[in-house]
Amino acid sequence: MKLYINEKNKKGHINAEIYGHFSEHLGRCIYEGLYVGEDSDIPNVNGMRKDVVDALKEMKIPVLRWPGGCFADEYHWMDGIGPKENRKKMINTHWGGVVEDNSFGTHEFFELCDQLGCKTYVNGNVGSGTVQEMSEWVEYITFNGVSPMADLRKKNGHEKPWKIDYFGVGNENWGCGGNMTPEYYANLYRRYQTYVRHYDHTAPIQKICGGPNVADYFWTEGVLKTCFAPPQPGDGQGTKGFMDGLSLHYYVHPEGWQIKGSATEFDDKVWYKTMAKAAYMEELIERHGAIMDQYDPEKKIGLIVDEWGCWFTVEPGTNPGFLYQQNTMRDALVAGLTLNIFNKHCDRVKMACIAQMVNVLQAVILTEGPKMILTPTYYVFRMYKNHQDAELVDSYIEGNKMIGEEAEYQVPLLSESVSVDEDGCVNITLSNLSVTEDVPVEIAFAELVPVHLNASILQQEIHAHNTFDEPENVKERAFVSYELKDGKICFTAPAHSVISLRVK
Ligand code: AHR
Repeated sequence: MKLYINEKNKKGHINAEIYGHFSEHLGRCIYEGLYVGEDSDIPNVNGMRKDVVDALKEMKIPVLRWPGGCFADEYHWMDGIGPKENRKKMINTHWGGVVEDNSFGTHEFFELCDQLGCKTYVNGNVGSGTVQEMSEWVEYITFNGVSPMADLRKKNGHEKPWKIDYFGVGNENWGCGGNMTPEYYANLYRRYQTYVRHYDHTAPIQKICGGPNVADYFWTEGVLKTCFAPPQPGDGQGTKGFMDGLSLHYYVHPEGWQIKGSATEFDDKVWYKTMAKAAYMEELIERHGAIMDQYDPEKKIGLIVDEWGCWFTVEPGTNPGFLYQQNTMRDALVAGLTLNIFNKHCDRVKMACIAQMVNVLQAVILTEGPKMILTPTYYVFRMYKNHQDAELVDSYIEGNKMIGEEAEYQVPLLSESVSVDEDGCVNITLSNLSVTEDVPVEIAFAELVPVHLNASILQQEIHAHNTFDEPENVKERAFVSYELKDGKICFTAPAHSVISLRVK
């Protein structure tokens, strides 16, 4: 098959935030996964696990969303500040009914993002919180002056304000965030977002409006009709009216929402079903995007896919409310395919957060006590990192075909996306979605004659995954089986593999 690349035809900027992550107070994501506390025997810096933070930095995490999820609309931020021994304990009703001791709160989140060197995405509470509570949280975090909330922050040990890059006004308000109708939520959105003040006009907060679940186009239309607002001259907001982004949530459940299906045991049919369901992301982006185009033809508002990934049945013997699942080569291919889709739609998709970062759903990292493993999905994010803040360029696969075992669940054999970064390197990411077929590939460029090539591959048996006993079962390896011939790159993309090439 031929992959044609026109590296001269730049098609849009790939926001680094497309490679974002999500961390919720759910199961062992925050506690154990990220935060172990200063007194833990597990090596930590100010309570944050050092091994996990180092691995995430190596993967180049651009942005982190917190504290939920459904948890966000039950979270009262004042419970998570001040001396830890005085912090309120509560029941995490959504997730496993466990005690939440609030030892990880606002200060800890910003400390974590500081260690990670990533942008911050705070999700506010509309479902059970007040406008005042949301407004004061923003004041507490970002106001640099004398005010009740800024003073409280200083009293709690943080003199300088932090920066909120993104602020979500509620989460899934069509469901766990209050079971609202689109119009009702949109009116609340207009009101709540008013009080998400830009205290620092040099760094305005990007406001994210709660968008649809999967294919709920009715929600997208209803919300935009009510609360989309074009830029107001002189409104002093420094943003594009009421919103900078609209969220979209979409999870892949191979066997449907009720049954979901095992993370590690599946046959070829389920493999293709999973891939086809992941590929459906493209239709969702295009169709929600088409509605957004009617309001925002210049694409100033981002589609923010702030929850995506595979959602399987929990691992046997684990708390069903903790959503802990293993991660195989199948997850890696879902990640490769989805990230290629996001890249190719970077004109509309401005941020995406895989759910969730550690120990929950399609995690990039799993932990068990002091042990940590990197999942196949981790390696895909690391292999794709050069796309961050690069320019998408034209690419086309001649002869690509649809594959699959059932007519309903067909997927393209190969998926690709290509960018040019500021060093002038061409970054190519290619996934072969077939269970069985190795594919000969020839890459041809418009002008570039490749001289330097760095490539890596992730490939293993389709069920392969890392365990705490075999942590390196699936691992990114250098890919050297290629030939440079007449200005072209020729190689075989093995079945069910993810390949990344960096060319100059
Ligand atoms: O990621 C798990 C949950 O899925 C989130 O809390 C919620 O927003 C979504 O339904």
